[in-house]
Amino acid sequence: MAICEDVLKMLENADEAMSGEEIAQRLGVSRNSVWKAVNRLKEEGYKISAVTNKGYTLVSEGDSVSDFAVKKYLKSNSSNLRIIVRDEVTSTQTVLKELGDKGEAGNLILIAHRQTAGKGRLGRSFEAPKNSGLYMSILLRPTIPAEKALFITTAAAAATSKAIKTVTDKETQIKWVNDVYYQGKKICGILTEANLDFESGGLNYAVLGIGVNITAPPGGFPKEISDVATALYTKEPPEQIRAKLAAEILSNFMEYYNDLESKAFMEEYRKRSFLTGREIVFTQGNISETGRVLDIDDNARLVVKLDSGETKTYMAGEVSIVKNFT
Ligand code: BTN
Repeated sequence: MAICEDVLKMLENADEAMSGEEIAQRLGVSRNSVWKAVNRLKEEGYKISAVTNKGYTLVSEGDSVSDFAVKKYLKSNSSNLRIIVRDEVTSTQTVLKELGDKGEAGNLILIAHRQTAGKGRLGRSFEAPKNSGLYMSILLRPTIPAEKALFITTAAAAATSKAIKTVTDKETQIKWVNDVYYQGKKICGILTEANLDFESGGLNYAVLGIGVNITAPPGGFPKEISDVATALYTKEPPEQIRAKLAAEILSNFMEYYNDLESKAFMEEYRKRSFLTGREIVFTQGNISETGRVLDIDDNARLVVKLDSGETKTYMAGEVSIVKNFT
């Protein structure tokens, strides 16, 4: 709704309250359109007061997320991204996969204020209550071979952890392969779903999903995850945090993605690795092995010195921590 952006700009620049009539006249639209735009802006989190006989005032930008708010903070390398913001969807992954199947072009971003059926890895669900987190997916049309699709997830983890530092000044770490941790607990999950082209050995498309807990859900995290999950803020987060974070993650990610084969993201990833040096239990299917993590190699595989003395590298699997490295 382009008129929202115009109304917002007008309110941002106004020294005093502006009536709906005045805004409508200046924009050459009906008063009803202005009223609808103001309501939409309020739904998106902008705090706008309306006083009879005076008009509208922008009180604060609140925790608003809109396509134009995100675009405002994007770096120039990402100006070609198309951004859609929805109030509620089942899952941003599901919606973009449907669009991917229909042939939609890549570099399309979908952000939702709430997901009713948020998806996690391994068929798990992902809690996504209204305005508690940043829930974002990106439809990509990568030209890399399918076996390199893991790099999309790795690059996204590095991009997200780095963006959190820039926007919030909070230090986070990456728990291989795709979780971001804050103060020892998970604050972000990443899920990449790919549609393979068996003839070329490449990907028709990939949908990368990133979910960051900004605040705990109203009433706290569900009991099953309250020991392992946390949020970036315990109190009211700063204004525009979700829009700024979305833009910074996207800008970082696109920089890595546009040159994925150079693996420039690996330096950031390793620097922020949560597991390196820790004693872990590694599980794949019903086989579990224990050992110490030595490194993450250049192909984003986990390098583990097993208790048996053997050193193994893993592409995928579940890791739990035995005890901290001393
Ligand atoms: C995980 O930790 O298992 C991955 C969680 C991924 C969550 C994000 S939120 C945005 C996107 N939409 C979804 O339904 N899931 C991903």
